Amino acid sequence: MRKLKGLVLAGGKGSRLRPLTATGAKQLVPVANKPVLFYALEQLVEAGIDEIGIVTGDTAAQVEAAVGDGARFGANVTYLPQAAPLGLAHAIVTARGWLGESAFCMFLGDNFLMGGIADHTRRFAEADWAGQILLKRVADPAAFGVAVLDGGGRVERLVEKPREPLSDLAVIGVYYLGPEVHAVTPHLVPSARGELEITDAIQGLIDAGHEVRSSLVAAEWIDTGKKDDVLEANRLVLATLRRRVDGDVDPDTTLVGAVVVEAGAQVRGSTVRGPAIIGAGTKIVDSYVGPFTAIGEDCDLSSCEIEHSIVLDRSTIRGVPQRIADSLIGREVVLERSPLKPQAIRLMLGDHSVVGVV
Ligand code: G1P
Repeated sequence: MRKLKGLVLAGGKGSRLRPLTATGAKQLVPVANKPVLFYALEQLVEAGIDEIGIVTGDTAAQVEAAVGDGARFGANVTYLPQAAPLGLAHAIVTARGWLGESAFCMFLGDNFLMGGIADHTRRFAEADWAGQILLKRVADPAAFGVAVLDGGGRVERLVEKPREPLSDLAVIGVYYLGPEVHAVTPHLVPSARGELEITDAIQGLIDAGHEVRSSLVAAEWIDTGKKDDVLEANRLVLATLRRRVDGDVDPDTTLVGAVVVEAGAQVRGSTVRGPAIIGAGTKIVDSYVGPFTAIGEDCDLSSCEIEHSIVLDRSTIRGVPQRIADSLIGREVVLERSPLKPQAIRLMLGDHSVVGVV
């Protein structure tokens, strides 16, 4: 069985999550109060991959501050700065020296896969294939890399964001590759979006006669590139939550179902209907926190109602008459009552935003 290295991609711009990503790395957006990137790291380690290189971009300092040397994940982490976000295959070129002749699992730091990767990892490690990709049937294949298989499960063709529908098999952002890929990458040319595409690299392996296999994934997979995708990942993780109340909850509060109140959090005169998580140091007063909501640390919520939403650390929501739903609210946001309309509240607010509502 070959020993794999892990290559985690934590660069990129996160343009579809602006303004949240104007100040923060998209891979650090929290899902159930934990950066989405951490799920990838945990799943790699769980699959026995503890030598991990993280490719970073403009947000390198934040990523390094959050992950550190990897010891808390049981991993040994090396940072590999990428000069510019020139594509997933370019990240492999960037990591070439660090990867050496190892086979590796490349995991996109904004991809969220329920159930982990241990089985897929074992399957690849035991084989001698040059590549293995994970596939998921999707309704909108044009948004992804798409695969065409032959009858025997081999990958025949890969196309990045095809205009013509080729198949409904999207390529998940978890790729297994052998060192053979380094013979392909020098020949890649930038795509229409100016990137060296991973799909082209894997197609190069196939064209060179190497064996590339695939696995159809049954588990939920989410590319957390957009607000609703982040909320959906949040919903999936919260659905697995068990009740734990370490914070301070007064007798006038009703907790229903799977609610986590972290140590140092306070809840007064409120109803929290799980699954929901209230971060450390957060204060909830005279409010309703509904299902599938994750409130970060040191937030201050009073006289408001919120459900199916994510609130990042140190934000304030005060006296907002409408229920907030389906929202992703950044750090240090202030959202409070104002005499102005509108009535519906559907927000995607960046860090340090200040918003007044009716
Ligand atoms: C990238 C890959 C694509 C893959 C997707 C998975 O797309 O290029 O093949 O299906 O990740 O998340 P991007 O997010 O760069 O548009």
